[in-house]
Amino acid sequence: MMSLEERLVLSGVLTAADCRTVLELGYGEGGCTRWLSHHCDSVVTVDLDASVNNAFALWNVVPMQMTTQRALEQLAKQEDRFDLAIVDAGHDADSVLSDVLGAAKIANVLLLHDIFYPPTRRGAMQAVSQLNCWHNFDVATGYFKDDVLWGGIGIICPNLAVDDEPLSSSTLGNDYIRRLFEVRKQRHLFKAPKWLVRFTQLLAKVWDDASDAR
Ligand SMILES: C[S@@+](CC[C@H](N)C(=O)[O-])C[C@H]1O[C@@H](n2cnc3c(N)ncnc32)[C@H](O)[C@@H]1O
Repeated sequence: MMSLEERLVLSGVLTAADCRTVLELGYGEGGCTRWLSHHCDSVVTVDLDASVNNAFALWNVVPMQMTTQRALEQLAKQEDRFDLAIVDAGHDADSVLSDVLGAAKIANVLLLHDIFYPPTRRGAMQAVSQLNCWHNFDVATGYFKDDVLWGGIGIICPNLAVDDEPLSSSTLGNDYIRRLFEVRKQRHLFKAPKWLVRFTQLLAKVWDDASDAR
């Protein structure tokens, strides 16, 4: 469920941070899981939905059919650690907040999918204000779908202090603000042109009538 740009970011992070062990919160249809299985040593994938058990077919993937909160508690109790966690389960602000806080305890790098979806971004912003660590929420830009902003990738590094440059942290980058303006503009356009649609329909009818008359 990722765009080409998002996949490239994921691939770049896996390589640059040499991620061998990955925790995936949100299996969905397993598209990302199959790919992770191919590129990493081991993957744990979590989803409420029973389809997560299809991942048993992948030799290096352990599926957990349960809530992400329960899984995060269980993994922390087992003292499991991951090079990377992909946060892509519940997209409401509360779920994102608790998934990020939980994943930050057991993973070195967090990738957040759909960070351009406003509730997801809100939850992530609340989380980094508590973690006070390096983050950038505009690594891959989101897009406009079904009248809402979706997609995009954000990164959080829980072990890197917020002031540890070279890259400065960013939660409300230019891309996000630009996209928000685009959404407003598109909503405005969707509302405005009813008269225009009607006008072109009338024109088409006049054209047809004229053709019939000839
Ligand atoms: C967007 S899909 C994941 C897509 C997948 N990461 C991919 O890229 O192919 C989100 C999934 O999260 C699961 N989910 C939502 N809330 C959850 C929760 N609280 N605990 C566990 N899974 C959850 C849903 O069942 C859904 O399958």
